Amino acid sequence: MFNTNIINRFKSLETPFYYYDLGLLRQTLDACRNASAQYGFHVHYALKANFNPKILDTIQSYGFGADCVSGNEVNAAIEHGFEKSKVVFAGVGKSDKEINQALDADIFCFNVESVQELIIINDLAEAKNKKANVAIRINPNVDARTHHFITTGLEENKFGINSWQLNDVTETLRKCANLQFLGIHFHIGSQITDLEVYKSLCIRINEMQDWFEDHGFPVKVLNTGGGLGVDYHHPDTNNIADFEGYFKVFKDFLNVKPGQEVHFELGRALVAQCSALVSRVLYVKNGLKKHFLVLDAGMTELIRPMLYQAYQKIENLSQKSEVRSRKSEDSDNDLGLKTQDLRLKYDVVGPICESTDCFQKDVELPESFRGDLFAIRTAGAYGEVMASGYNLRDRVQSVYSE
Ligand code: LLP
Repeated sequence: MFNTNIINRFKSLETPFYYYDLGLLRQTLDACRNASAQYGFHVHYALKANFNPKILDTIQSYGFGADCVSGNEVNAAIEHGFEKSKVVFAGVGKSDKEINQALDADIFCFNVESVQELIIINDLAEAKNKKANVAIRINPNVDARTHHFITTGLEENKFGINSWQLNDVTETLRKCANLQFLGIHFHIGSQITDLEVYKSLCIRINEMQDWFEDHGFPVKVLNTGGGLGVDYHHPDTNNIADFEGYFKVFKDFLNVKPGQEVHFELGRALVAQCSALVSRVLYVKNGLKKHFLVLDAGMTELIRPMLYQAYQKIENLSQKSEVRSRKSEDSDNDLGLKTQDLRLKYDVVGPICESTDCFQKDVELPESFRGDLFAIRTAGAYGEVMASGYNLRDRVQSVYSE
């Protein structure tokens, strides 16, 4: 992602900023589109992962649909050219205002998370003399084997409708003249790297679609949700998610009936690797037992490491480019590292007045200095969009590869 030219370009820029490699984004989108198209699968991009305008424009140009979780995301998707007929509105707490907005926009479908929500959407649609397409989000009770903060498919989770409540759902659907039942929706969690988990999901989806059909509700759409994970440890050598393997699981294990559509809602896998948060070292503090690098970015720009104890690779770009340029002159070994290059363990922290404002503890890095440029990798998903204004910080900027 970074070469000497890019790092030199960064030298004159104010930090912190999100750097977006649009070439890598396009390669990722190509890989996803090719892998899904061979089975006729439909991909909706989960805007929540990143709604940066340039990212939305690029993803939209590939013909993907949009998975939105607020009225504003619905509006943003439509403003950026996503077809209304490919916009889905999900979320456990849609407000009346947001439902009305989505009804006015004539979106494709609401993913509904409770019986009460079905009744409200029906009432609001009736007031507008419209019929709303709905898919029922079912809680499949499948363990995503990911971080417990981002697991969503277990029973007694706030998301989705549990299987023992489905009779209530079909009774309600029969009474609601302004709802059109379209299909069933699932989402078991995020950053899933064990594809076996999706086999278990397929088995549950097959059971659930049979249940609906047995109760007189033909299922037109099977929406499997998102969650495909990326490699946070090797952002250079493994920078495109395993779309082939992922879609193949569904091809092999999902019982797709004639005329049915299979939908996916991918966020992270499409955008995570194409961005890094670039920051400068403000201060180097040497304690008794520890060294600290205080960056000019913190939890206000990227909160994932603090909120989920998420690992994101940290690199010193300045030392990397220096080592590279020295390599051509005189290097002691194949890597271009001179034996006297000193590596130290640092706690890499932000400037925010909270002790949790730490990106990573005990990171081994080349000796680092005030002014060095740092990159925190794999920051394209749930990075810029989760930035906050805490401490009245400046809004983080974006820089693009082109
Ligand atoms: N569909 C639904 C219903 C979702 O709740 C989510 C993510 C997605 C699709 C997209 O999932 P993805 O493909 O991106 O894994 N902020 C956390 C992740 C939260 C995920 C929320 N839901 C993080 O930074 O790890």
